Amino acid sequence: MARLEDLIKDIADPRLRAQIAGEVAKLKAKKKFGLVFEEHLPEVMELPGLAVKPGARVVKRGDKAAGFFLVKAAVNGKKVRVVSERGGPAEIAAKDDLVVVKRFGEPMYPALIPVDRVTRAPGKPYHTLINADNFHALQVLLYCYQREVDVIYIDPPYNSGARDWKYNNNYVDRTDQYRHSKWLSMMQRRLELAKRLLKPDGVLIVTIDENEIGHLSVLLETIFPEYLRHMVATVINPKGTGKLNFARVDEYIFFCVPNNGASLIKGIPTSAGITGAPGEGALFYPSSAPQPLLEVMSAEEDDSDDAEEDDGPETDDTDVADITDEELPFPPEEIGDWELRHARRRGSESSYRHQRKNQFYPIYIDVGERRVVRTGTALPLEGKPNFAKVGGLLPIWPIDKDGNERCWRFIPPKMQTLIDAKRVRLGQYNPTYDSWTLNIWERRPESKKLKTVWWKKAHDAGTHGTTLLHNILGRRATFPFPKSIYAVADALAAVVRTRPNALIVDFFAGSGTTLHSTCMLNAVYGGFRRCVLVTNNEVAANLAVRLKKEGTEPGSAEYEKQGICAAVTWPRVEAILLGRRRDKTRLPGQYLDGRAMSLGFEENAQYLKLDFLDPGEVKRGESYEAILPILWMMAGASGDFQLSKGSGKHHFPKGCPFCVLLREDHFKEFAAKLAERPDITHVFLVTDSVEAFHEMGSRIGKDKRCVQLYKSYLDNFKINLEPKRAD
Ligand SMILES: C[S@@+](CC[C@H](N)C(=O)[O-])C[C@H]1O[C@@H](n2cnc3c(N)ncnc32)[C@H](O)[C@@H]1O
Repeated sequence: MARLEDLIKDIADPRLRAQIAGEVAKLKAKKKFGLVFEEHLPEVMELPGLAVKPGARVVKRGDKAAGFFLVKAAVNGKKVRVVSERGGPAEIAAKDDLVVVKRFGEPMYPALIPVDRVTRAPGKPYHTLINADNFHALQVLLYCYQREVDVIYIDPPYNSGARDWKYNNNYVDRTDQYRHSKWLSMMQRRLELAKRLLKPDGVLIVTIDENEIGHLSVLLETIFPEYLRHMVATVINPKGTGKLNFARVDEYIFFCVPNNGASLIKGIPTSAGITGAPGEGALFYPSSAPQPLLEVMSAEEDDSDDAEEDDGPETDDTDVADITDEELPFPPEEIGDWELRHARRRGSESSYRHQRKNQFYPIYIDVGERRVVRTGTALPLEGKPNFAKVGGLLPIWPIDKDGNERCWRFIPPKMQTLIDAKRVRLGQYNPTYDSWTLNIWERRPESKKLKTVWWKKAHDAGTHGTTLLHNILGRRATFPFPKSIYAVADALAAVVRTRPNALIVDFFAGSGTTLHSTCMLNAVYGGFRRCVLVTNNEVAANLAVRLKKEGTEPGSAEYEKQGICAAVTWPRVEAILLGRRRDKTRLPGQYLDGRAMSLGFEENAQYLKLDFLDPGEVKRGESYEAILPILWMMAGASGDFQLSKGSGKHHFPKGCPFCVLLREDHFKEFAAKLAERPDITHVFLVTDSVEAFHEMGSRIGKDKRCVQLYKSYLDNFKINLEPKRAD
């Protein structure tokens, strides 16, 4: 419907336009809304860098509402003749007043332009920050990292109505009747692309608040039907906000996790030294820091997992200090790695005899020797348990204190193996029933399952988001609502704590919290998780108004340097890695684990800008240079890609794990050179012939990834093509 309305505006004949608009209004009145959302005219992209020349589609810088124009002819070097797509007479316009735009389906030729870099750890790969609209950046990332990403973390605009995002260059506010459907259109396109980046065991994390949670939930269900979708409620503002009715303290985190039978979400490590305070998701909360203000369902209060309260916890409270070394089925020094758990199943889930009939059987004990001897056989459902001694051995049945018939945790053969290994221990005597509890020695789990409510002081977005960012940049009001670095670190750790080389993507990166949190994870857990951030260079609404008044146009260097990416994200990345600001002042303060911020992080980062080239205007050498950073990213973002015109026979950028064969007639010499470089992982072969590519590829070791590149370099990475739709 909205798309129709947009198209109607472009009808030149006013009478026809009014008639069609009238009919559409009638239809609209009848239309039922529900989970169906309006499909909007796809977003257009402004490309201030492209030449305004005949054939180009343009908008007027100062009057975007006037719609699109086609450039018909050049009048002179500075002016062109244009006609509106809505009809009407031709006009003469100054080229400087026009910006080229591309609609969906019109091919675009991306180039990644290096802007800056920080190298603190030569030899390590680089995190990358890309200044771009994420719709286009995602398509470039698909060339580089299809099915390679461990986790995508995004914190999209929440669509609160407070002009927090733009659709087609216009702010979406609460007066916009299509606010929700525009948001859904925007998200749908991006999530569909993003899904293709994920590894088979990759996880998508999306944060959201009450404005779009309902819609997002349905959208995720549509795009990720084969995933498990878990929702965490997380307190990020303990003081609370909201004018009417409630003071809202929380927001939500969706975890879309492949449903492959494995638990891909890693819990809180139980080993000492990392988790500090008990609770959910508080990886960076050191025990020396003040306790959280509010704590719900802490691990200490409830460590019974699925146990029913009246049936007691899974673990036994025997004091292990009372157990002699001789009794232990493992070396005494390992005592910290083991715990005693009840041999009988607890809780309401599958713990009754009728639910697991093979697990209702006697276990015989020798009371005199205080020893567990053997299992009996499982008793059929109709059978009655016999409590009489057999050969001097007392049978113990899995019956709870209220006389309910429950079941043992394992079937007899497995239980017997444990008995033989001395791992089943006689516990306490219960004189009321003349019975004993039985316990099993089990290795302590490496981690404790995360729960779905997170309430941690460290997740406060005010202190550990806004204030932290002010401290880093040395100025106030830099960016609205950055997340707490600990909140993002905990969400990421839930997936990548045990993936030391994980690839992490955030395509709504804002101030860059995700990269900051990734560095913290690397510092705490070791490893080199690598981050790819994408964020646009949006200028804050009030600043944009001021710049416009001053005549500073979007696209101009002066305007662009005030955008988020240039003025907040990159300066933050630089400062946190180096431990100092641009003005050389050291970063004050320390992280919650006690690490001084001025130490920075031993990591590298590369700042790139996504640009678009006109293949007709770019010389061959320049186009090779433009795609080099894409090749560099594809090969793992290591080393210095050293821009090159690609005029030689081949190119082996120093310190990079990739090389390019530029002239296929020099393959032999190239292959000989390649044989001396075991560090090279990616080989790009420039040829327009698929057969030649396969022939050369077959002569290169299978341990290297070979990629074909067309001679017309830009064609390799053509994007913005309308996806084929079933409808
Ligand atoms: C809610 S903020 C993310 C904040 C971030 N998590 C942090 O802690 O700083 C969303 C960001 O996405 C950016 N953004 C919105 N639409 C975008 C788009 N189409 N492409 C790239 N970035 C976009 C906005 O400029 C904003 O900075």
